[in-house]
Amino acid sequence: MVKVAILGYGTVGSGVAQVLHENQDSIAASVGQSVEVKYILDVRDFDQSPYGGRFVKDFSVIEEDPEVSIVVETIGGAAVALNFTQRALRAGKSVVTSNKELVACHGLELTRLAKEKGVCYLFEASVGGGIPIIRPLTVCLAANQIEEVCGILNGTTNYILTRMIQAGLPFETALKEAQENGYAERDPSADILGYDACRKICILADLAFGKNVDPQLVPTEGITGISLADVDYADGAGKKIKLLGRAVRQADGRVCAYVAPHLVDVTHPIAGVEDVFNAVFVKGNAVGDVMFYGRGAGKLPTASAVVADVMDIARSGGNRSPITWGDGDPALVCGTEELVSRFYVRIKGAADALRNQVGEIKLLARSGATPDEAAGITELAMTEAQLREKLMGMEVLSLIRVLN
Ligand code: HSE
Repeated sequence: MVKVAILGYGTVGSGVAQVLHENQDSIAASVGQSVEVKYILDVRDFDQSPYGGRFVKDFSVIEEDPEVSIVVETIGGAAVALNFTQRALRAGKSVVTSNKELVACHGLELTRLAKEKGVCYLFEASVGGGIPIIRPLTVCLAANQIEEVCGILNGTTNYILTRMIQAGLPFETALKEAQENGYAERDPSADILGYDACRKICILADLAFGKNVDPQLVPTEGITGISLADVDYADGAGKKIKLLGRAVRQADGRVCAYVAPHLVDVTHPIAGVEDVFNAVFVKGNAVGDVMFYGRGAGKLPTASAVVADVMDIARSGGNRSPITWGDGDPALVCGTEELVSRFYVRIKGAADALRNQVGEIKLLARSGATPDEAAGITELAMTEAQLREKLMGMEVLSLIRVLN
């Protein structure tokens, strides 16, 4: 029998306990032995829980119990979770996590520590919740040179944008609705400012390109600047506004990684990803384009990926081949400064002035537009700096990259 300890009995941790309990027979059949929760660590009391007798408050109980071979870390954050993960790995226990912040910021050292100790550190649930993406990227697509990874990596912001597009809700109202539905946190900053998507694209870039991509080097823009006017102009051009995390291999081997809103053509598969759903689009030099789609958050979808990692380790007896990547380098990551795209631009001023200054631009219309506002999409691809130079002296209200 494989004994597991769960750290943190929040949404994901309680989902892991539920899946391990409800699917215990099929899990045992697949692994070849049963997988049982021996401890759940949480500072709170859960007297009514069916796991009543298994709750502990002191991590050293788990750390010092040789029977526990797998620790599931669902605490979140990069402080306590880092300490417990290091201690568990040093104690010779494999660790499974859904913690994107920890993997993005400390994944390299933790995967190396796991390798050194001959145990596993797995994190399928850290990107895209229940969507299988870490294994497909590292195993099924291993024969490719990956050219690009691009995705809708945050469900909360995708929900907000979907409600702005479909129901015409202003950003603040759509955010409030997301909070009422339990998608957005009371402090929604990590989602709406793009930090959550940044952590996820860094993990995907680490794996796709084999070198550590530091989240602090990745330019990150959220959706707080998106207005209904932008949504309407985009609609008039047959496009939707989506928050994308992108990591694109450059010819010289550097990685252009960033998070920003984009105008996406309605014919692109990513444009059809609505509500809280996530999608990851991968371009490989042999396979071409592949897309992974599903629920990027939530109790049971995330637990689905966590428990699959637990089963993978249990099946291999802890001898699963390690997932890790190489050192990073500040010169590895280039921001968006060299990335050439067409751009959507909205200015305060007349359409003629916009055309005169930018040159080749497809002007856009929307109902309710005032004469002192103009918007368009550049006909030519250019860098953001080149466009900003053309717009010198104009009051720019919005500037959004168009996905190629
Ligand atoms: N808050 C995240 C989202 C879920 O909305 O996608 C966990 O990363």
